[in-house]
Amino acid sequence: MRTQVVIVGGGPSGLLLGQLLHRKGIETIILERKTREYVLGRIRAGILETGLVNMMREAGVAERMDKECFVHDGTCISYENEMFDINFQKLIGQNVVVYGQTEVTRDLYDARDAVGGQTIFEVEGVEIRDADTEAPYVTFTVDGSARRIDCDFVAGCDGFHGVSRKTIPDTVRKDYEKVFPFGWLGVLSETPPVHEELIYANSARGFALCSMRNENLSRYYVQCNVNDDIFEWTDEKFWDELKRRVPEAIAEKLVTGPSIEKSIAPLRSFVCEPMRWGRLFLCGDAAHIVPPTGAKGLNTAASDVHYLYEGLVHYYQDKDSHGIDTYSEKALARIWKAERFSWATTNMLHRFPDQSDFDLKMQRAEIESLHHNETAQKWFAQNYVGLPY
Ligand code: FAD
Ligand code: DHB
Repeated sequence: MRTQVVIVGGGPSGLLLGQLLHRKGIETIILERKTREYVLGRIRAGILETGLVNMMREAGVAERMDKECFVHDGTCISYENEMFDINFQKLIGQNVVVYGQTEVTRDLYDARDAVGGQTIFEVEGVEIRDADTEAPYVTFTVDGSARRIDCDFVAGCDGFHGVSRKTIPDTVRKDYEKVFPFGWLGVLSETPPVHEELIYANSARGFALCSMRNENLSRYYVQCNVNDDIFEWTDEKFWDELKRRVPEAIAEKLVTGPSIEKSIAPLRSFVCEPMRWGRLFLCGDAAHIVPPTGAKGLNTAASDVHYLYEGLVHYYQDKDSHGIDTYSEKALARIWKAERFSWATTNMLHRFPDQSDFDLKMQRAEIESLHHNETAQKWFAQNYVGLPY
């Protein structure tokens, strides 16, 4: 087989890139290790920056999002019984959108079906070959038979555990990593959200987050031990713990119900440099991970897709390789800023095992500064809504 761009990974990065390129007449084949149902069953991010919203529009897949999303002009932060709002709209005239990653992915798969884009599911043993030459190709097996696709470029959109990043030789690649000493226990429940905006809560018992998907679907998280047994976290224990971490007035309003999904995610910061090796380009979680505090995971994947899409379009339409040659540099400049915001927000809101009384005072002073200082709020707002591409 032959195509212009092989996209390894049918998550949001790969699908969005595929859809954008298709609209410019650039042909792609997407290789996905799992089934479509499996990919759509994963509950992940919920907040979209304007940059991603605009790309969904450019990709022609924004119709349902524009109808069903919630526009949020701000977000709330609480510490014990204190709660304050950071109003992005008032501070910087921007907002974010609540629309689940699952829905983004579903819309992109539907759009790919509609245009007849080729996606091969349940591929095994993907290997990216000769990426440092003018003639890369990708080999894999599907239904027990070996296949090969020759291409101009490979987009590695296969997430943190994929093969793309590992294709870049150790002598070229440098990984930067920080693993946080806790995880997030997430629960999805068919209950109305407790508040009209998200609440990021710092409490003596650890961090909590109240989020949502729609008027009858709530997403809540509590900081937990990453090795906790999920079965020990009964729904009752979860709701009880959540209520103890948010202001009393919020706890009283909280409507509880059976969980329809429950999972524990580790928290890590990770960046791989460079994001390009020859004709292989990494996008999204394949190249970097942020701790979820600050909602930057999916949104940084989107900014990578933006830079790569622009670069490939210039290459094919204008015979200009400047965009792809500067891809890694441009993407990383934005990534490191998002890494910093996610790391700082994680530090501000969580309880750490080795925190001293002094550390706790520093954390408290930081939250109070954010509460009362408009400049600090503006910095938070600019980063939360997303830095410009
Ligand atoms: P992925 O979504 O990981 O997609 C990669 C795809 O590649 C997958 O479908 C995978 O099956 C496929 N693949 C992997 N290996 C291969 C291979 N060898 N061959 C072919 N295909 C392969 N972000 C937030 O902002 N907020 C959140 O609340 C949040 N929660 C998260 C919870 C969890 C458990 C995880 C793992 C991530 C979460 N994130 C969250 C991060 C966010 O979901 C990711 O940043 C986003 O999914 C990145 O998209 P991606 O397409 O780059 O990678
Ligand atoms: C959600 C997840 C986040 O990490 C975040 O910062 C905000 C919202 C969510 O799943 O809704």
